[in-house]
Amino acid sequence: MSSPSRRPLIAGNWKMHLNLAESVNLAKAIKDGSGAAPAEVVLCPPFTALTVVGEILKGSVVRLGAQDVCWEAQGAFTGEISAPQLGDCGCRYVIIGHSERRRLFGEADWQVQKKIKAALGVGLAPIMCVGETLDEREEQKTYRVLQTQLEGGLKEFAPAQLAQLVIAYEPVWAIGTGKTATPDQAQQSHLFIRKTVARLYSPQLAAGLRLLYGGSVKAENVDALMARPDIDGALVGGDSLKQASFLRIIHFKAPSEVG
Ligand code: PGA
Repeated sequence: MSSPSRRPLIAGNWKMHLNLAESVNLAKAIKDGSGAAPAEVVLCPPFTALTVVGEILKGSVVRLGAQDVCWEAQGAFTGEISAPQLGDCGCRYVIIGHSERRRLFGEADWQVQKKIKAALGVGLAPIMCVGETLDEREEQKTYRVLQTQLEGGLKEFAPAQLAQLVIAYEPVWAIGTGKTATPDQAQQSHLFIRKTVARLYSPQLAAGLRLLYGGSVKAENVDALMARPDIDGALVGGDSLKQASFLRIIHFKAPSEVG
């Protein structure tokens, strides 16, 4: 189990799925089923559904998150959505630097850094994604890639500014592929990330930092992942769209309860 000082966090990344009616139905079902969940729960619908999902989640313990953010606060940036606008919709979290943004839309570490800064500036908690591709893993470059992403994305912050930061370790080869990192593989990378943050910033920040695993998290594997000491939660894609699976994921069981 992760340290009791770190509240588990499970976030559902709906990506570019669901129409408004489907978003409303799923959000209602998760809200209704989230009682007594051991984790803080966050739903990240597409921008177009933020307001309606936010209305449903009002007054519940389930939080609202977005999937991306612009680093500028306002202005002539056609197609972009700013951090103040996300706050205005009721968002508390925002995913930044997801591998799909990095890979398909060319997002680089310097952009991730600017987005994190914009989010923190308005009190939004960034869920910063890092992770290696299969080629990089096979070439034994996992730690080097993680280090580069952490150094670039977290450049020039003071430790106190990063108190709200959440980091998601998402090996690219495990996203949407049905191939999950083993709990051992995930734990090793999480430990490396925590140590790197301790070295770059402070041991206190690293000790309190919530590290999520992402990549084919399912009802069947969540308990084993969550049993590892440096895994504090999950960023769930595909199975966050399936009501029963996601409800089981947010109600993950500690090792002593599995039997
Ligand atoms: P997946 O996606 O759970 O479908 O693998 C995870 C993610 O991309 O955040």
